[in-house]
Amino acid sequence: MTESALRALINDLTLEEKIGQLVQLPGYFQSEGAVTGPAGDMGLTQDDLRLAGSYLSIIGAEKIKKLQTAFMAQHPHHIPLLFMADIINGYRTVFPIPLAQACTFDPEGVEEGAAIAAKEAAAAGIHVTFSPMADLVRDARWGRVMESAGEDPYLNGCMAAAMVRGYQGKSLHDRGHIAACLKHFAGYGAPEGGRDYNNVELSERTLREDYLPAYQAAVEAGCEVVMTSFNTLNRIPSAANEWLVKEVLRREMGFTGMVISDWNALEELLAHGIAADQGEAAFLALRAGVDMDMTSPVYARNLKQLVESGKVPLAWVEDSAWRVLQLKNKLGLFEHPFKDADEEEERAVLLSPAHREAARKMAEKSFVLLKNEDHMLPLQPEEAAFIGPYVDHIYLNGAWSIFANDQDTVTVKAALANDPRTRNVPVAPGCPVHDADQPIMGFQQPVARDETDAEAALQEAVELARRSRKVVLCLGEHRECTGEAASRGELTLPKCQLRLLDAVTAVNENVIAVLFGGRPLDIRPLKEKTKAILVAWLPGTEGGPAVLRTLLGESHPSGRLSMCFPYCVGQMPIHYNHLSTGRPFHGDCHDGRFGSKYQDIPNEPLYPFGFGLTYTTFSYSPVVLSADRMKADETVTASVTVTNTGTCPGTETVQMYLRDISASVARPVRMLKAFVKISLNPGESREAAFTISEKMLRLYDLSMRYVSEPGTFDVFIGPDSQTMNKARLTLEEDSMAQEME
Ligand code: NOJ
Repeated sequence: MTESALRALINDLTLEEKIGQLVQLPGYFQSEGAVTGPAGDMGLTQDDLRLAGSYLSIIGAEKIKKLQTAFMAQHPHHIPLLFMADIINGYRTVFPIPLAQACTFDPEGVEEGAAIAAKEAAAAGIHVTFSPMADLVRDARWGRVMESAGEDPYLNGCMAAAMVRGYQGKSLHDRGHIAACLKHFAGYGAPEGGRDYNNVELSERTLREDYLPAYQAAVEAGCEVVMTSFNTLNRIPSAANEWLVKEVLRREMGFTGMVISDWNALEELLAHGIAADQGEAAFLALRAGVDMDMTSPVYARNLKQLVESGKVPLAWVEDSAWRVLQLKNKLGLFEHPFKDADEEEERAVLLSPAHREAARKMAEKSFVLLKNEDHMLPLQPEEAAFIGPYVDHIYLNGAWSIFANDQDTVTVKAALANDPRTRNVPVAPGCPVHDADQPIMGFQQPVARDETDAEAALQEAVELARRSRKVVLCLGEHRECTGEAASRGELTLPKCQLRLLDAVTAVNENVIAVLFGGRPLDIRPLKEKTKAILVAWLPGTEGGPAVLRTLLGESHPSGRLSMCFPYCVGQMPIHYNHLSTGRPFHGDCHDGRFGSKYQDIPNEPLYPFGFGLTYTTFSYSPVVLSADRMKADETVTASVTVTNTGTCPGTETVQMYLRDISASVARPVRMLKAFVKISLNPGESREAAFTISEKMLRLYDLSMRYVSEPGTFDVFIGPDSQTMNKARLTLEEDSMAQEME
């Protein structure tokens, strides 16, 4: 539809119809769709339902076509509905959880995964996915770390932008593409105490420097929709934060698309204590710039009266309705209200062999090898027994894969059985996946108890471990222990699994742990008792084959931690790019009392950000700079030569970090600025080169201007965030400070 036709359409709508565009209804109103938040009837009338703008969580080409047809037939202006859903790490073919995807350090691969998810979801009738989540995370207690790209602003931004490109393609009109909804704006990843929905307090400097860049990257990649967050940010709930939405998101970041609240967040303004009633909540949210109300009655029940009484200007409603209609138009819904919904296409693409293969490859790239003593890995096909509750566990998808069928998941046990070389490998569960005294609540009901007989399983496992050369021990948190509303106060493995670990390692000294789950855990016992640790996260549909291929060396691990593994929960929150403090502690316990440290645990995590081993080894030359001084309008190349010093091919993720030695405000001890993956054969060397520009050296200065300041910088290049391989660069005095456009 042309813009003028769209204008004519909106001008012709009644007030009720305009308000209707701002309303998103939950799928369960049509007895369909997953319930992904507290459910109620919202007190809406049939009229409210008739005029709605969107449905959430309804999927399936046939259903959506039927609903769209019936809805448009009865709508006074035949305006199509928008169908939105949480397609987080795949639709039916499930890719690894986003935290694991980020461990690939492979934005192109992540883009490809998002494109596949979009293709499947589009065929099933979806128009918008609630992804990517670009919330920076520093606290593994928060269950939603699994949906994030981790603790680093730059990596987070690379991944968010890649997902947007993958979902949206070149044009939303194109077949197989859907709109991306960036979330949760802003700062949702920093809830106090790691407790979901809790308050967030961030200084404006920290917000801008660390938390906003990833959202900005997604906006720059063209994402069409942004979701506000549940939390208060510095005491103001995001869904009512005019400064955040209008000033930061729209004016500064240049976002022109549609803004939607999170589930029921407008009604929750009452619980936050900033609205006395729904009418006030509607006023505050619309004034803030929230265009669409996700599954609360606030807009539907109150805006008409507010506009008619003059409390809410009609222009606010019209501006928001315009943005909703524009999105529908960009998706081509006025001409093709079903967009790509197509039963035949669904049959062809959902879980297609090509999609499964892509999911498996991404899973392999996301695995992080933390430890590999005595060359435990790779394994010969028949040398190890497979023990542990995750050996035959089908829930490898992550809590958000609400539209996938768990029966489609290939477990490790199934992968062993499918390969003639491993068909006879003995397996045993060893224990239940979670402790009986720790019931887990799923989205809608408690997770069914694992009925494994703990004692019998333990005995069987110990006997098996005793007579095996090596043991692969598959452990981890249940997937419902992470995701929304799944915060934890402890970061340990379930007690039954720790008991199994003790028992197995007591009788076999060659134990390789494969760790599943959606967050970094306190894995000190694993580090102490096993010889190798492979983090497999929640690897998705093809998780089992990906794990087996990696253990057998058919695929070589190359993933790097997107979030550190802490020493223990007491370190939370933790991130590598912290400030130095005036009393930095250098690790010598005899330093005396007055360093910034704990008395009983180290400052350093167990495994740092960016860390990950391969089956080979790499050496790095010293860092070479093309010049050791630069002016603001110049660039410098920083390079290293990386050599594969081991005996098999491998892929190394070369990372460049910068540290500003002295600035007008305290600076992080280092910040990731670039990375590159290089694959090398044994004995082969290659140069990895990075361009340093003035833009990379900027900071929010004393007056909150985003500028670079002349001075010295350390340039670190190495395999992880603890590398000390560095050179020194000077940004010259005459450099012109440049404000961010
Ligand atoms: C609440 C979650 O916070 C959000 O991420 C999700 O997209 C919506 N529910 C819709 O399910």
